[in-house]
Amino acid sequence: MDYVSTPPKLITKEADVTPTVLAAMADTDNPRLKEIMTVLVEHLHQFILKTRPTEEEFEYALRWIVEIGQRTNEFHNEVVLAADVLGASTLIDLINNDGMQGETMSALLGPFYRGDAPVCANGDCIARSQTPGATLFFSGRVIGTDGAPIAGAMLDVWQASPVGLYENQDETQEDCNLRGKFISEADGRYHFRSVKPAGYPVPTDGPVGVLLRAQNREPMRPAHVHFIVSAPGHKTLITQIFSDTPEALAADVVFGAKQQIVGNFVMHTAPHPDYPDASLPFYTCEYDFKLVRGKSTLPVPPISGKKS
Ligand code: BEZ
Ligand code: FE
Repeated sequence: MDYVSTPPKLITKEADVTPTVLAAMADTDNPRLKEIMTVLVEHLHQFILKTRPTEEEFEYALRWIVEIGQRTNEFHNEVVLAADVLGASTLIDLINNDGMQGETMSALLGPFYRGDAPVCANGDCIARSQTPGATLFFSGRVIGTDGAPIAGAMLDVWQASPVGLYENQDETQEDCNLRGKFISEADGRYHFRSVKPAGYPVPTDGPVGVLLRAQNREPMRPAHVHFIVSAPGHKTLITQIFSDTPEALAADVVFGAKQQIVGNFVMHTAPHPDYPDASLPFYTCEYDFKLVRGKSTLPVPPISGKKS
């Protein structure tokens, strides 16, 4: 280019920045990337122009983002946690899973899905190490939106222990404690044994915790069990079944609780006819997962193991 006769237009004022950056990105080949980056730059610049950060505030914000990355490794995912407490994960979930075809509603994946839980037989207990808490018998069916049973569906289950920690956060728990994969039977049924979940705080020892404290927010999640239910020819369901008070559900720090996925956790004070060893009281929860037809996919796990 002949810079002498046609000098490039240089930025001289605030209003020049957005059109100049958009022009610089105008040759992006991928149309979806071009759309996303254009809207991102437009909104980012609008946000900056509206809030007018000081240089110190900008440095602090960049440092916060750097720390989110530095705190993320194969055992802990602060990036997912940040997206969750900002409501971004729940918004993405609702955009992509509206539950309008009668399927079970979804909920955010969260940062603690490993993807490598052992395959179990129906009836197995996923409490692999000494785990406090009341026994829970969880059962139900995987069915289509027409009510027909889905055999051979995979249910990948994980939950925190009643002390409020996932096994990868807690060296006293055995590898894959409170994690397991179950396959639905010919009539769509699945069943497993566990411990009744408790509410727990999300990790607050990193930059997300700094933000939550600055906002005077409680870090609590209501008690729940996570499920990924997948079957060929069906859209994969990523969800959580909740067991908690209405107040705890409404105060979910990551905005994941929905009424349709609150389970009926029933307390029993007489011995279980099939499992007389279960101490009293124990709980049962029966929940049928309804899948809609679609593409079966699995999410990329945010973490991949437990620190040994
Ligand atoms: C969870 O349910 O495992 C979770 C979700 C979002 C943030 C932290 C934990
Ligand atoms: Fe959880």
